[in-house]
Parts: sequence; structure tokens; C-alpha cells
Amino acid sequence: MSMRRRKELIEVARTRKAVIIEDDYDGEFRHEGGALEALCMRDAADVTFYVGTFSKSMLWSLRLGFVVAPKWAVSTLAIAKSCLDFQSPGPIQLGVASFITEGHLARHVRKMRRIYKERRELLLAILRSEMAEWLRPVASHYGVHVCALDHAGLNMRSVVEAAAEEGVMVHSLNRYYYGQETRSGLVIGYGIADLAEIKRGLAILRNVLKSIRSP
Ligand SMILES: Cc1ncc(COP(=O)(O)O)c(C=O)c1O
Repeated sequence: MSMRRRKELIEVARTRKAVIIEDDYDGEFRHEGGALEALCMRDAADVTFYVGTFSKSMLWSLRLGFVVAPKWAVSTLAIAKSCLDFQSPGPIQLGVASFITEGHLARHVRKMRRIYKERRELLLAILRSEMAEWLRPVASHYGVHVCALDHAGLNMRSVVEAAAEEGVMVHSLNRYYYGQETRSGLVIGYGIADLAEIKRGLAILRNVLKSIRSP
């Protein structure tokens, strides 16, 4: 979002007495252009709830996230959290806090940025060369997944099912729609696949795309 749009959004939130939920769930992994400054760091801290997670930067199974909330909302949020599930496990929170303060998280994120960038580049290179007949990657610089749109009119649900039978798990874009689906494609994650697995997985996916195309 451009700086002008950001300022407008903050103004709209203030005049309408609304709040902005800034869900920066994969902001640690912006692969081009450096990190973007969060809205809550600017002069919008009074209307912004900055939401983050350790699912991408550490482990999905930690089930731990965080909110940087305006001061006026902190006690209400704490009450709401207690009503939902009482609290996240104390020992895990303390462990993660030490991991951060001792500098391990920053070091881990720096290392993983390099690794994910390599994986992403390999994935994009294969998509653009060997799989261009069916899929076109969406330009995006964030996260540990790539979205690729189908331009061959394939049934992506069938592609996903056939790939799963061969041991390759990808998601069809349709699972992210609430209403009418306007585009079809695949979401391909690379958080747990190394370079060799990406090559192997995409070779399998390519065979699936071929077979679905010519039944
Ligand atoms: C839009 C969005 N927000 C937040 C998250 C993080 O969710 P969690 O912390 O429950 O893993 C995700 C996970 O992929 C996401 O897609």
C-alpha cells in the first residue's frame, strides 16, 4: 500500500472511529525491497492493532501469536483473551521471550530469509519454464508460498487430489474464496520443502497437470 493510501486509511479510521487490524503474518519474509514499516510504527498507534504470529518465523505448532494494541485497548483485550481460552501456555511464552531477547529469533529469521529466497527463486524458475503451459505465478514478494494462476482452464480441485495421491500437497485457490470464485490456481508452499524436494514435487505436479489436461 502506498504511503498516500496508508495516510488515507488512518484518516478514515480516525474519522469513522474505526480501528485497523494490521495482520502482518509473514512480514519477516519480504524477499525483495526490504522490510516495510508497519502502520503502527507511524503516527497510527492509537487506531492500529498490529497482529503477528510465530507460525512462520518459528513453528506453526507453537500456536503463539501476538498483538501490539493501542494502550486504550490492552485491558479489554486481556479480558477477551481470558474469555476465549484463559491464556496461552506460560512456559512456551517464556521460552519464546528468551529466544527473542537472546537474539536467536533475529538470527534464525536472517538465516531463513536466505534459505526461503533460494527456494522461492527455484520454485518460480521452474513454474516459469517447465510449467508455463498451465500456470502463471502471481507477482508477490512475501511469505513462504507462491500463488500461481491457471490459464489452461483445468479443474484445480482434481489437480490437488491427484497430486496428493502422489504425495505432493498443494492447495487450490478456491479454498480461499467465500463467494463466487473469479480465478483458479494453486497455492504452493515451500516452508518445509528443501531444494531437492521442490524439484521432485514440481516434477510430479507437472505430470499431474499433463494427465489432467489430456485424460
Ligand atoms: C491471513 C493470515 N493471518 C494470520 C496467519 C497466521 O495464523 P496462525 O498464527 O494461526 O498460524 C495466517 C497463516 O497463514 C494467515 O494466512
